[in-house]
Order: sequence, then C-alpha cells, then structure tokens
Amino acid sequence: MSEPKKLYIKTYGCQMNVYDSERMAEALGGKGYVETQSPDDADMILLNTCHIREKAAEKVYSELGRFKGLKAEKPDLKIGVAGCVAQAEGEEIMRRQPLVDLVVGPQSYHRLPELEAKARSGEKALDTDFPEEDKFEKLKGRPKAQRGPTAFLTVQEGCDKFCAFCVVPYTRGAEVSRPADRILGEARELVERGVREITLLGQNVNAYHGAGPTGDMSLAGLIWELNKVDGLERIRFTTSHPNDMTDDLIEAHGTCEKLMPYLHLPVQSGSDKILKRMNRSHTAESYLRLVERIRAARPDILMSGDFIVGFPEETEEDFQATLDLVEQVKYGYAYSFKYSTRPGTPAAERPQVPTEEADDRLQRLQTLITRHQREIQDGMVGREVGVLFEKPGRLKGQMVGKSEYLHSVHVGDADVQVGDLRKVRITASAANSLAGVLV
Ligand code: 5AD
Ligand code: SF4
Repeated sequence: MSEPKKLYIKTYGCQMNVYDSERMAEALGGKGYVETQSPDDADMILLNTCHIREKAAEKVYSELGRFKGLKAEKPDLKIGVAGCVAQAEGEEIMRRQPLVDLVVGPQSYHRLPELEAKARSGEKALDTDFPEEDKFEKLKGRPKAQRGPTAFLTVQEGCDKFCAFCVVPYTRGAEVSRPADRILGEARELVERGVREITLLGQNVNAYHGAGPTGDMSLAGLIWELNKVDGLERIRFTTSHPNDMTDDLIEAHGTCEKLMPYLHLPVQSGSDKILKRMNRSHTAESYLRLVERIRAARPDILMSGDFIVGFPEETEEDFQATLDLVEQVKYGYAYSFKYSTRPGTPAAERPQVPTEEADDRLQRLQTLITRHQREIQDGMVGREVGVLFEKPGRLKGQMVGKSEYLHSVHVGDADVQVGDLRKVRITASAANSLAGVLV
C-alpha cells in the first residue's frame, strides 16, 4: 500500500473556520490524506483564512512566501488558500503568488476533492462560487474516530444584516440554515464519538430557521431537540445578534437544563448615533432592556460581547457612551477591536478617526473590560461549578476543563479523566483561570 499523503491546515479567525478546517480534512481524508502538524512534511498545505480585520490578506501573502523554499525542494507539494480571503481575493492571489495551486471559497469546500485532483494534474484550481447545495452534507468521508469532549457544529452560515463595517455578508454570502435533522444526526454522531458539549455555530446563529419536521424550526426549537440527546451534557451557541434574541430563546436560557448560562451578544457600540451609522438597527437602550430580560430568565448568565472603537465619526462623547454601556452590563468576557477599513463595505468611504485616538480608546475600553472580567472571575471563589474536563494541565497531576460560564478551571492530583463532568468548589482565581477542588 502506498504511504498516505499528508495535509497541513493552518486555521485563522473564528470558530466557524475551525469547524470548516475539520470538514476539509475529512473530505481530503477520503482522498487518502492524513493530517500533519507541520508544513515541512506535507504534500498539501491549506491556509484557511479570515478577512474580518486588518492586514488579513498581507498575512496570507507573507505566510505563502515562507513556503517558497519548501516548494522548491518538493515540486509535488500543492498549496491552497481557503476561507474568506480566498473568497474576496481569489483571482488576485492566483495572479500575485504563483506558488498557489488552489483557491477555494467557504461555500465550495465540498468541491475540494475535485479541486485537489485538478491541482495534482498540474492545473490551477479556483472555485469561489456560492453553490446552492449543502456543502456539509456533501463533504463525505468522515472518519469515525473518538474525539475530545467538546465540538463545534455549524448550523447556520452567512449574514443578511450588512453592518456597515463588516465583510461577512460579502465573503460568506446570504443567511442559510441547515436542516434540523442533519444537525441532530451530526450531533448524535459526535456524542457517539465521545463529545459531551456542543457549541452551535453561525455568523448569526440565533437567526437560525432550519427545516424541521413540522415547518421551520427556531434556534430554541433546535436546542430543545438537542436537549433530548442522551449523552450530550452541554449546549452553547455563538454568535448572536440582539435583534434575533427571540422570546423562546430567552426562555430556553431559564428552563433548558443543558443550555449553558453564557451568552455572546455583541453590541459593538453604546452610542445610538454610531449604532445607526453601523446599520445595527437597535439602540443602546433596547440592548440594555434585552440584557435585563435575559438576566430575568437566567440571573447567573455570563454575558460576553464585541466592541469596535474608532468607527468613522466616533467622538469622545460617543466613546463615553460605550464605556457607560459596558459599566451597566458588566461583561464576563468581551472582545474589543479597533475599527479597520474593509474595502467594499459602506463605512470604508467615511471620514476616519485618527489612529492615535482609536488606540487610546481601545486601551481605555480594554482596561475597563479586564477589570469587570476579573471581578466576575474572582466572584467565583467559594462557589461550586460544574467542570467538563478537557485535558491535562501544565503541572503534573493537574487536569483542566471549563465551567458552565466558560472559565478555565484546574484541579490538582484528582482522580478525573478527560470527558468527566464533575462538581468543583473554586478555591482561587488567577489571571486567566480558576483553581478548585472536587466536591
Ligand atoms: N473592524 C473592526 N472590527 C470588526 N469586526 C467586524 N468587522 C470589523 C471591522 N471592520 C468585529 C466585530 C464583530 C467581530 C467578530 O469582529 O466586533 O462582532
Ligand atoms: Fe457582520 Fe455580524 Fe453584522 Fe452580520 S451581524 S454584518 S456577521 S457584524
């Protein structure tokens, strides 16, 4: 039998790319590829790229440049670019970097085996279509190997919201939801392979409306179906838009036993003027009222968010409104970014905030967020939480897992295995993790 070919995938960006990379590895597994952790012994290198913020394309070109020596040594090595940069700049990549044999956009991954064959035959292979078919259903060749206790599962892709700063509606295309039965089938299969926690993914996951047995099913409906899957212990979902936080989903946070008390609900800004210019179609006030309703349903929920500072025409007063909103919500986790101009998006044409000002705001916002994050994490000391153990820790005998609230928790010298879900009493809080003892 011939040696298997080796595939090296480097993943940038969001969790949806992590999920896509797994699917691509499985699809190429059907063509005799096994994954390798190093580009040096690869027969094929795939960069799964992200276009959401600055210098994405430049990073890809510099990474590609580094493979020049490898390709010279190994002429059979095939190099591919996937993901949102591939979608946005596929032809330009082919022109500018002759090392690249294959370009595939996020909606065409099921065509990867054919594209690989084309590249192997010495031709350039490019596919950045938005085909109608369900790419995940057609990505065959899943291995049935055991896997770790947590997994991502993409249920929805694309976005119709067109926030003025964002490339996603252009690179990932329009909103599409996968049918519920396929998602449930995939979830059951993951559970058979050892998974106990599933995070449902979508660019706008709470806008999910996939075909169910009796018409369209909402995300809450899907979560209730997953709640019935034996062996599945935890359900999470990300990323949500405030305008799609429906009553049934809020209620599920209070009543659905496997749904974890954690919600990533980006607001981006606390200024109504900026929210309007971002085309967010909600106000700071409506967001705060929504958070109140969510907390009424599930008082201990940990809120998480995303912020952009230095959006075109953001004044110091607008920025203060963001700080105010953050003070009111108190996020357990929050991610803040300096606005970056994305070619082709409406905000790219508008008057920009000077870089130094945006840098200064970013720093002030991050200081506040870090303070809240730390206060909330420190507040866990003395409490009992559930921990799903994922891997050994850095110290001997230590095991690490995540609490319901997504805090990292480690225990020392305890009799626990990867995949165990145990009660832990928190004894200490450090910069990025909690320590505890089994109850
Ligand atoms: N500049 C800065 N941040 C951005 N995001 C999306 N587009 C941009 C941009 N052009 C951030 C938003 C989004 C997160 C995934 O990335 O906060 O919620
Ligand atoms: Fe981008 Fe999210 Fe806005 Fe959609 S809702 S355009 S993915 S930021």
